[in-house]
Amino acid sequence: MTDLLHRERRLRGSDTLRKMVRETRLSREALIYPVFVKEGKNIEEEIASMPGQYRYSVDRLGLIFDRLLLAGVKRVMFFGLPEEKDEEGSGAFRHDGIIQTALGYAQDRFPEIYRITDLCMCEYTSHGHCGILQGEDVDNDTTLDYLARIAVSQAEAGAQMIAPSDMMDGRVRAIRSALDAAGLSGLPIMSYAAKYSSSFYGPFREAAGSAPAFGDRKGYQMDYHNKKEGLKEALRDIDEGADIVMVKPALSYLDIIREVSGAVVVPVAAYSVSGEYAMIKAAAKAGFIDEANVVCETAVSIFRAGADILITYYAMELAKWIDEGRIG
Ligand code: PBG
Repeated sequence: MTDLLHRERRLRGSDTLRKMVRETRLSREALIYPVFVKEGKNIEEEIASMPGQYRYSVDRLGLIFDRLLLAGVKRVMFFGLPEEKDEEGSGAFRHDGIIQTALGYAQDRFPEIYRITDLCMCEYTSHGHCGILQGEDVDNDTTLDYLARIAVSQAEAGAQMIAPSDMMDGRVRAIRSALDAAGLSGLPIMSYAAKYSSSFYGPFREAAGSAPAFGDRKGYQMDYHNKKEGLKEALRDIDEGADIVMVKPALSYLDIIREVSGAVVVPVAAYSVSGEYAMIKAAAKAGFIDEANVVCETAVSIFRAGADILITYYAMELAKWIDEGRIG
C-alpha cells in the first residue's frame, strides 16, 4: 500500500458526505427573474431567440407571477416594451408608461413579489441607443437628467429597487440625488457596474426590440479586454452610492466577478444574460448537452466565482433543482 497521508477522495465517498463539505451554497432567495412587459392586451408571446421566455401584457402578468410564486422565486426585474418610441425615450418616464403600469399592477395584485426595475432608455428610444443623442453619439450629461427623471418615475410607480443599465458616467450619483430629493432615500440602487459591450445580449435585443438603429454600444459599454476597468467601474459606482454592484454578462466574466467580489464590501450580483440562456437551450434541444446539469453547473460556477445574487432566465428551474438537492 502506498503511504499517502492525504487522500482527497475520502471526502468524495458518498452523496451525503459530498453535500456536507460543499464550499458553495445556493439559495433561491438569491435569484432574480427578468420579466418582459409589453404594451397591449392579451399578450403572452414566446421570444423566438429565447425559447421558454415570453413577453406579457400587463393583464397577463399574473400568469408568470403565479408560476414564480409557486417556484418560490420572489424577486423580478422588469423590462418595459412600449408600443411607441421617440428620440428622447419619453415612454420611459410617462406616468402611464408600460413599466409604471406594470409596477402598479404588481404592487396591487402581487405584493409578495419584490419589484426591481431595469433603468435604461434603449427600449424606449427610436434610435435604440441608451440615452439622448448628440449627432451620432450619446450625450452623457444630458442623458443623466433623463435617467434621474425615469428613476423617480419608476420609484413613484412602485419600484422597490432601481437597476441602471445604461453605462453613462455619473449616473448612480445623479439617480441617488434625484431619489433623495424626491423623498426616496430608502430606495436601493443596484448598478450594472461592470457591464461589457457583449454579443451575448443578441437575443435580448430581439426580445426587447432594442438593437441600436446604427452603430453599437462600444462608446459606453465596456471593452471586454479590460479587467481593471471593471473594478474601477464597480468602485466608482459604490462611491456614488450604489448599494449593490453587478457584473454582466456572467459566464465569460467569472474573472471579473472574482475580482470585484474580492475588492468590495457590498453585495455583488451577476447577470447570466440572454445569449447564455439561448446557447444552453439550443445545445440541449439538439441533444448535445443535458440542460439541467449544465444550468446547475454554470449557476454554481457564478456563485463560486463570488456572486451573491444571480439574475437568470432559469430562476424557476434553478429554484426547483436547489429544492431537489441537485445543487446547493
Ligand atoms: C438595457 C439592457 C440590456 C440587457 C439588460 N439591460 C441590453 C443591452 O445593453 O443591449 C441585456 C440582458 C440580456 O441579454 O439578457 N440596456
